[in-house]
Amino acid sequence: MEVIIKPDYDAMSVAAAQQIADVLNRKPNAVLGLATGSTPLGVYKELARMHRVEGLDFSRCTSFNLDEYVGLPASHDQSYHYFMRENFFKHVNIPAQNIHVPSGTTSNFPAFCQWYEERIEACGGIDIQLLGIGSDGHIAFNEPTSSLSSRTRLKTLAKQTIDDNARFFEKSEDVPIYAITMGVGTILEADEIVLLANGAGKADAVAQAVEGPVTSMITASALQMHPYTKFYIDGDAAANLKMREYYEWISMKKPGAPRA
Ligand code: GLP
Repeated sequence: MEVIIKPDYDAMSVAAAQQIADVLNRKPNAVLGLATGSTPLGVYKELARMHRVEGLDFSRCTSFNLDEYVGLPASHDQSYHYFMRENFFKHVNIPAQNIHVPSGTTSNFPAFCQWYEERIEACGGIDIQLLGIGSDGHIAFNEPTSSLSSRTRLKTLAKQTIDDNARFFEKSEDVPIYAITMGVGTILEADEIVLLANGAGKADAVAQAVEGPVTSMITASALQMHPYTKFYIDGDAAANLKMREYYEWISMKKPGAPRA
């Protein structure tokens, strides 16, 4: 795991977007794993800019989103379908048939979850997975105590997640209680993982994910088991890291290091 501390949100977003663009430039038919939440908005904005200004091409790529609220139709303005359309898909040229977002309204959740897993595999697996982190250390909607080998399935949201996300709804009772989410095991199969975190509200979760024990209480800590994960964070989110100086030392020395 590599921790890259950037001076602010924009610098963090641009660096993460560049890593995704590098994958796409190297492999135009790459499979992208995408995330929602306020954190990745800057990455989507930068990728859209790269598409518009630099011609970054998404025409051959495929995408899979991590999760969706159960019960919200794709037209609902708080659904992750809607979020992705408004903040990313309508600004780039990913063909509609290559876009996958879990269905929150399927009549058969187990069958849908199995299909989603099979579809990821049939597309060759995820080349690069973008992640945010919940304030309780969750990735996607893998709440504390989720199995670290879990697959795509239905999850009940934790009270803390419902409270955190209530700001997007009129009242907290409107936040769905269930979600469909890729599992931790599904996420760990991605070739590369990029996790973003900014703000003091994420400092504890980041410290526990990076430096704490691997535990299902902080599902992001499972990323310690992944061979190629980068955390792009801002100074506030880095505040509780014990080894902060070490990460900064590595980043400073890295450009001159021999290539692995
Ligand atoms: C939700 C999403 C996660 C996201 C988290 C944090 O729980 N399922 O994928 O990482 O929110 O959201 P934000 O980036 O808004 O803090």
